[in-house]
Amino acid sequence: MYVMLKIRNGRLEDCVDLLTVYMGTHWEKGLTTVEEVKDLHRGSNFFRWGWLVAEIDNRVVGEIIFRTERNPRTGKLGLIRDIGVDVRYQKQSVGKALTRAAEEILREKEVSRIIADSPPEAYNFWMKINYFSRGELVRIQCNPKDVPSRRSRIVKTCEVNDLQSMPRSMRFSNISHPGLLVDTASSIIDGKKKGSILRFTTDDECIGFGAIISNNGSGSEFIADVTPSGEDYADLIIAKTAKFASKWKSKNVASRIPKDQLSRFMEVTDWSLETDRQIPVTRLM
Ligand SMILES: CC(C)(COP(=O)(O)OP(=O)(O)OC[C@H]1O[C@@H](n2cnc3c(N)ncnc32)[C@H](O)[C@@H]1OP(=O)(O)O)[C@@H](O)C(=O)NCCC(=O)NCCS
Repeated sequence: MYVMLKIRNGRLEDCVDLLTVYMGTHWEKGLTTVEEVKDLHRGSNFFRWGWLVAEIDNRVVGEIIFRTERNPRTGKLGLIRDIGVDVRYQKQSVGKALTRAAEEILREKEVSRIIADSPPEAYNFWMKINYFSRGELVRIQCNPKDVPSRRSRIVKTCEVNDLQSMPRSMRFSNISHPGLLVDTASSIIDGKKKGSILRFTTDDECIGFGAIISNNGSGSEFIADVTPSGEDYADLIIAKTAKFASKWKSKNVASRIPKDQLSRFMEVTDWSLETDRQIPVTRLM
């Protein structure tokens, strides 16, 4: 461990150093300017308390981004949404120190467990620091024409595209993979992606949400989730959200879902399936 290693809250000025970190660790994002890095550190799903950086000799060499979410099955979850350490400082315990510091903050927020989605290359890092693999993520896809048009007298659908911030009621996961509903909805709320947010109610009670984005020509991506009282309507809510892709004439509509929820999605239509690259990992608190 570096003697001079300091873990502290992140600040927008740190994005100058973080650009170098991103260029080495997240080259697939194609970031080239400090402003682009700053953009990743603001918006409707970003909390200042959930951003720590690692500093060595007055230089930021790594960061971790995390937040919390309600989950009726497991209680409050901590979500690590990103971690990166400058390639020149990797394998020297910086990533571990960042994760432990984030865990401390999440423990104070009384989360029951912490979840991260690991690329295969980082999987052994998570194993070394006592996370374990939890379930699998499946990518499902179909032609929007194959999603049935569903109607219901009981469930009302309302498009809520004028949101200025993320409603608290949306900060949850139940049948969807943790983090994905908020991430998808925030890209719409923050104007980064073209898309729609759908709110489903019965008797004025909110029973679910859908968020769907159009990736200009290359298809649509959606996430649908239901509250425990909406579980009986999950197939309707999934179908109504996915069908939205027809409005944009998308050739395909896709989602990433937990494998153990596959049967609910298969009730809607015959999706083509592929194992997702990301591996969910977790640590109980
Ligand atoms: C994953 C990452 C953050 C790890 O940071 P790091 O500072 O190198 O990690 P640490 O040095 O704290 O590693 C802790 C342990 O895991 C091991 N480890 C780290 N990365 C590893 C890897 N890719 N493969 C195998 N073991 C690894 C370390 O050797 C160390 O083991 P030890 O305790 O026996 O010495 C860093 O590799 C990175 O930025 N990767 C690119 C971005 C990324 O994939 N992020 C994950 C998003 S979820």
